[in-house]
Amino acid sequence: MHSLEFGSNLKAIARAGAGVNNIPVDKCTEQGIVVFNTPGANANAVKELVLTTLMASSRNLFAGVEWAKSLKGEGDQVPKLVEAGKKQFVGKEIKGKTLGVIGLGAIGALVANDALDLDMDVIGFDPFISVNTAWNLSRNVQRAMSIEELFANSDFITVHVPLTADTKGMFNKQTFSIMKDGVHIVNFSRDGLVNEEDITAALESGKVGKYITDFPNENVLKMKNAVPIPHLGASTQESEENCAIMAARQVKEFMETGNIKNSVNFPNAAIPYTGKKRVAAFHKNVPNMVGQITSAISDYELNIADMVNRSRGDYAYTMIDIENKVNGDVIPGLKEKISQIEGIVSIRVI
Ligand SMILES: NC(=O)c1ccc[n+]([C@@H]2O[C@H](COP(=O)([O-])OP(=O)(O)OC[C@H]3O[C@@H](n4cnc5c(N)ncnc54)[C@H](O)[C@@H]3O)[C@@H](O)[C@H]2O)c1
Repeated sequence: MHSLEFGSNLKAIARAGAGVNNIPVDKCTEQGIVVFNTPGANANAVKELVLTTLMASSRNLFAGVEWAKSLKGEGDQVPKLVEAGKKQFVGKEIKGKTLGVIGLGAIGALVANDALDLDMDVIGFDPFISVNTAWNLSRNVQRAMSIEELFANSDFITVHVPLTADTKGMFNKQTFSIMKDGVHIVNFSRDGLVNEEDITAALESGKVGKYITDFPNENVLKMKNAVPIPHLGASTQESEENCAIMAARQVKEFMETGNIKNSVNFPNAAIPYTGKKRVAAFHKNVPNMVGQITSAISDYELNIADMVNRSRGDYAYTMIDIENKVNGDVIPGLKEKISQIEGIVSIRVI
């Protein structure tokens, strides 16, 4: 959308997914257009594949299936060859093993909770855990006080953090040295979290037993004991539907009530919608904006019933519910009056 010009009546853009790099977010902010995304809508899809591949690789399923297929053409000998050759794929059960979950957000929390149900011991690390996730997390997930504690105690490690300057290359020579021998690492987050050269060496030496990754490249395909998944983490029909439904709901709520949930450029803000007239203004985050808006409202001798003001960086969003019974859809002149206040970017009267 970077080359598009937006009409003055465009109010919102929703991305059915997490990444918004195809949307000119800064330009939208300057024009008062809310940009939504749908975090967590694909979390269940990713969780299911994390647990599937964790179990499948622990049982050497992928290599076993490939080997079984290679027996094609052996005719009557196939069952005999299977029985003779299967011992090379003896695996390990996950029951009773320790799973370390780094990042307990939408995906990590689901993985941690369900791994407990599979009788794993689960240890989690997330210094920035949100209150919402903490509420959803089973109290049987043990809390690692440091990432080193998690590395040292896990038989399997799965990572669910964003790629940032802090997390880039968090799996490297030094951190592998703390881990148990033969640890399995599952990466459905981003390839940059893992130092490729170091994991190649760790797989070669057996320090890392398996590397399951959703991000194959030429180097990954050459790694011993890497399990390359062709970026299937969120690829389910349900996940696409969940994202679309969530995107549509968020836009609908914003258009009907002004409430904002999961915006990447506006502050999140909500007050229960009771059907009263509502003024929703997006404005510069500078002193006395709320004062000027409320005084414009009181010039009309209207009472304020409820109000919210939230800021995000240089901008802020104010919603004000008006008590007085107002006839018709529009309070004549109010919208125009507020829009003339310096610093107002966009204004709606709902
Ligand atoms: N493979 C796929 O198809 C696919 C699909 C969706 C998401 N993802 C990836 O999965 C990642 C996680 O997704 P999510 O929806 O759970 O995100 P989320 O934002 O809900 O959770 C991320 C969690 O990581 C935590 N965190 C941040 N920095 C940390 C650090 N240094 N150490 C420990 N924890 C840290 C945060 O506090 C947060 O709880 C995304 O960033 C994305 O890269 C991949």
